[in-house]
Amino acid sequence: MLSWDDEVSATPAPRAPHLPAQPQLQSAAFSASGLQQANTPPHDQALDPALIAKPAAASENGQSRRVNASDKRIINGQTDVNQLVPFKYKWAWDKYLAGCANHWMPQEINMQRDIELWKNPNGLTEDERRLVKRNLGFFVTADSLAANNIVLGTYRHITAPECRQYLLRQAFEEAIHTHAYQYIVESLGLDEGEIFNAYHEVDSIRDKDEFLIPFIDVLTNPEFKTGTLEADQTLLRSLIVFACLMEGLFFYVGFTQILALGRQNKMMGAAEQYQYILRDESMHCNFGIDLINTIKMENPHLWTPAFREEIKSLFLRAVELEYRYAEDTMPRGVLGLNAPMFKGYLRFIANRRAQQIGLEPLFAQEENPFPWMSEMIDLKKERNFFETRVIEYQTGGALSWE
Ligand SMILES: [Fe+2]
Ligand SMILES: [Fe+2]
Repeated sequence: MLSWDDEVSATPAPRAPHLPAQPQLQSAAFSASGLQQANTPPHDQALDPALIAKPAAASENGQSRRVNASDKRIINGQTDVNQLVPFKYKWAWDKYLAGCANHWMPQEINMQRDIELWKNPNGLTEDERRLVKRNLGFFVTADSLAANNIVLGTYRHITAPECRQYLLRQAFEEAIHTHAYQYIVESLGLDEGEIFNAYHEVDSIRDKDEFLIPFIDVLTNPEFKTGTLEADQTLLRSLIVFACLMEGLFFYVGFTQILALGRQNKMMGAAEQYQYILRDESMHCNFGIDLINTIKMENPHLWTPAFREEIKSLFLRAVELEYRYAEDTMPRGVLGLNAPMFKGYLRFIANRRAQQIGLEPLFAQEENPFPWMSEMIDLKKERNFFETRVIEYQTGGALSWE
């Protein structure tokens, strides 16, 4: 059986931060591409050094600009970010390839049975309907926050092009996830205003997002740049919050709920969409953890006792917030689930995430109360799980020009 954190392979087959316009970025990018002579105006470097390849010593044929893989760094690198190869971080490239092989689109999934069930007054209980609406209320905006975090924040601070390549793929996957949630809302004819504004209106959702948003905002601040102990710890902290606590913890009550509906032959189209999303998110989480651990390895001075203590307290706070969300979405037992079951589950996941980044487990001997969730990550095994169509497929690999 797969565990939560087995590597997912390709099966064959916040409020949006408002950033001011940054016209300087273009000239910085040109400088990095080598199209412009190495006379980048000083204000460009001050704006965002991560975008700029440090000019190599001038040479007539430009060979001194060629990249040595051993010189690459995940943060504060000095090599040209536009030269993808030679690879140093092959794990990032492999995840990029796996993400592409797992490509899917929401409208490929038939929602007809969900629509009929939702419209049937006796199709679902009131508690099940509340669960679906609260669930979507979190997710419809969560993936926009995730996309903003990548595109407007994380990406520009990462100086390894293999990792940037994965982040670009991940950003598109976040767009697909937002699309999937919107597609479910539209299919079921839900009140869009109620669902999309839930992160302002529902306390348990708002509290989760308010916990996350400062860690996103700090990276999207145009003034923020890495290169000092404090700034590098700030980046690392945000990466940990994003990978381990947002994608790695805050999504899992919601995933479990919708997949539990699917296990009871209810909302199977939505459950299938969530299953694809779970597969993507599992890879996002694993990528983030690899990124974090590589940064730690390259910059061991960042991992101070005080920093570790701070991370532990963030984990504890996140478990508390996610548990409150579980209580709010399931005020009574529903679908064989209840909030107290999630207490153990969240502790189990938090322990695993902590260990994955080199921290001691936070809670004693927690077991996974939902082992079936682990299997869900591997779609290949579960192709008949919902007895829908074969859900293992591959797209895009077979164009023929003959
Ligand atoms: Fe996502
Ligand atoms: Fe994600």
